[in-house]
Amino acid sequence: MASRSAHALLAALVLAVAGASLAATLDSRGWHEGKAAANAARVLDPFPDGAPSLELPPAVARRIHGPTLLVYFSPTCPHCQHVAPELAALAAARAGSLTLLGVAVGSSNPADVKAFRKTYGWTFDVITDTDHAIGSAMGATGTPSALLVHDGPDGALVVDDMYYPYSPHTDTLVAMRLAPTPFAVFTPGTYQGNRACAACHVAEQEAWLVTHHSVAWHTLEADGKQDDPACTRCHVTGAGQPGGWDGRADSGLVDVGCEACHGPGGPHDGQSTDPSTVCTGCHDAEHSIAFSYAKGLPLLDHFKTVELTGDELRAQRVALLKGEAPRELLAFADAPTVGADACKACHAEAHASMSKGPHAHAMATLKKGHADGDVACVRCHATSKAGGLPASTLDGYRTDEGVGCEACHGPGGAHVAAGGGTDTIVGLGKSCPVCVVEAVCTRCHTSQWDADWKLDDALPSVRAEH
Ligand code: HEC
Ligand code: HEC
Ligand code: HEC
Ligand code: HEC
Ligand code: HEC
Ligand code: HEC
Ligand code: HEC
Ligand code: HEC
Repeated sequence: MASRSAHALLAALVLAVAGASLAATLDSRGWHEGKAAANAARVLDPFPDGAPSLELPPAVARRIHGPTLLVYFSPTCPHCQHVAPELAALAAARAGSLTLLGVAVGSSNPADVKAFRKTYGWTFDVITDTDHAIGSAMGATGTPSALLVHDGPDGALVVDDMYYPYSPHTDTLVAMRLAPTPFAVFTPGTYQGNRACAACHVAEQEAWLVTHHSVAWHTLEADGKQDDPACTRCHVTGAGQPGGWDGRADSGLVDVGCEACHGPGGPHDGQSTDPSTVCTGCHDAEHSIAFSYAKGLPLLDHFKTVELTGDELRAQRVALLKGEAPRELLAFADAPTVGADACKACHAEAHASMSKGPHAHAMATLKKGHADGDVACVRCHATSKAGGLPASTLDGYRTDEGVGCEACHGPGGAHVAAGGGTDTIVGLGKSCPVCVVEAVCTRCHTSQWDADWKLDDALPSVRAEH
């Protein structure tokens, strides 16, 4: 468990972020003002002052005719090995319109280069940059890097684009640059992956990177469920669709990406999807308690990171990957709670045995450390007086009952009024999807407070407590 000061730091960070967004201009959706067109300009016209030229040693320059991708690599670099199959496929798919030319770093061992080409099926030419003349002319500082060039009318080489570093799924960006306009790669119904969208929609991509949609696959991996089709269909992009996610972990379509909501290719393939119609395909009543489009929309603000500094953005991303980012949507229905005593009459056994368990004693634990007046602690050690977003003041909590029935089962007023039943309360039983159970528990059992949390280990003792 982390220290109290780490907790205070996090709280300060959240306040700083909230403070920053107060100053911003928000539109009717609760979103920051958009910058889509401004982002795209950079891609549509990458060199507004004219394309730069490249001076290579004449022996190399002479080999270049037409569009050529110079790939600067090292046969022993893992990142190069990772993108090597993609580059082999690019060379095959574009044979006739694009030439690839490998440039191995000067220190490469010839036997390694040979083995690399054989392993990854690189049939295009590879030269070794023994005196580092090519690498320095390219301005390459690391591997893998790639430069798209073509020979100009006067024999000079013209730079069309640079990919420093060459990351996975950059092949679509190369294709965009080769086409008369980037939009020509958007053929109807074809998935491109977030990377392609991010080429123009930089702000939207950054904002997406701090939503839980960007870690939906990571969430399954953490549970060892990444190969279970019963889970993947809602935690990736285009599952079961032609050209959608193909089951590979290194696919550009893992996680809930742009095209999960905007359809393959977004609106640019001539077919538009209204994103408001797709949410409940995944956020159904079973997997996403009390979901509504109106509640979810503000949390998707595509421009929410435009006012953050690089450090703030990184901190939010790290919190998300560590499972510490706030997860608001899972708040229960916005109804008042009625308190555990109201459950006693019909669930006497559960009430009696729960009262002896750790959850009921969570406030006593705080009292021992004199922290029972600190709302930052109480929010996980007591039951809220209402569903919805966590209250920020002490009087929003039932401090007398600790973590009571409704902290896990949601507001019970309607259930009590109906004399019980299974459709008036969140059951959390065996038929309840893990999405819901895990989300209820990890609201409090965060990695900060319960570092070795495992649902399967924790559930039996809660079952036994009832
Ligand atoms: C080559 C640049 C470029 C790429 C790549 C690109 N877009 Fe766009 N996109 C634009 C431009 C320009 C606009 C219009 C922006 C504006 O008018 O403010 C736009 C508008 C949009 C809109 C809003 C307009 C509408 O009709 O709803 C959506 C949604 C969108 N893009 C999604 C995507 C998705 C998803 C991808 C990836 C599959 C993608 N875009 C890739 C440049 C691009
Ligand atoms: C392909 C399935 C899918 C679609 C479509 C989808 N979601 Fe989600 N959504 C998820 C999953 C899965 C998570 C949880 C990811 C995790 O934590 O691993 C999630 C999480 C969220 C969250 C919590 C995010 C956060 O950062 O707090 C919000 C809000 C949300 N979705 C809103 C929406 C809205 C609004 C739509 C429609 C415009 C939508 N979602 C469409 C699957 C989907
Ligand atoms: C019908 C779509 C759907 C299916 C199928 C699905 N999920 Fe989810 N899952 C979601 C949505 C939507 C959310 C986000 C819920 C929210 O924020 O309201 C989510 C959230 C989660 C979370 C996040 C809980 C948290 O707060 O950390 C976990 C874990 C999870 N799902 C695991 C799984 C596993 C494991 C399976 C397969 C057994 C699965 N999901 C199947 C839609 C689905
Ligand atoms: C969870 C669903 C979801 C995901 C994922 C998603 N969007 Fe959106 N997007 C929406 C919704 C909802 C709207 C707002 C529609 C409206 O205003 O009615 C929207 C609007 C847009 C717009 C129009 C901008 C504006 O100000 O109206 C663009 C452009 C866009 N999205 C691009 C992207 C890109 C690029 C990605 C990936 C980085 C992405 N979206 C991911 C749901 C999503
Ligand atoms: C008037 C009697 C009564 C009261 C009061 C009552 N319940 Fe129930 N509860 C029931 C009955 C009856 C069932 C249905 C049992 C069944 O069908 O298996 C039930 C079922 C449940 C279930 C399981 C639901 C499911 O989907 O399996 C939970 C959880 C629950 N109650 C929690 C509570 C909580 C929390 C309170 C206090 C806020 C409460 N109950 C108060 C009678 C009551
Ligand atoms: C409202 C916050 C909250 C929720 C929701 C919650 N817990 Fe807890 N849980 C706590 C607190 C706080 C403690 C420590 C209580 C104490 O020792 O004072 C705890 C303790 C425990 C313990 C005993 C300590 C340990 O780690 O062995 C288990 C097991 C446990 N919780 C499991 C669960 C499970 C399973 C769920 C979901 C079904 C859940 N909890 C939901 C706050 C919560
Ligand atoms: C995000 C929810 C959350 C917050 C906020 C929170 N706790 Fe807890 N706390 C838990 C959970 C969950 C446990 C049970 C962890 C376990 O046993 O694995 C726990 C356990 C404890 C324990 C028992 C320690 C132990 O090692 O058994 C103490 C003491 C404690 N918390 C004090 C505090 C104090 C003081 C604060 C405020 C500074 C605080 N908590 C804020 C969730 C939280
Ligand atoms: C820490 C979270 C937590 C708290 C607090 C909690 N429950 Fe539960 N409850 C669960 C979980 C998880 C299940 C499902 C257990 C399983 O997998 O069978 C459950 C199941 C149930 C069920 C249906 C299964 C059964 O055993 O009959 C009832 C009824 C119920 N709870 C009532 C209550 C009442 C009444 C209280 C308060 C006295 C309470 N619960 C407090 C997590 C909790």
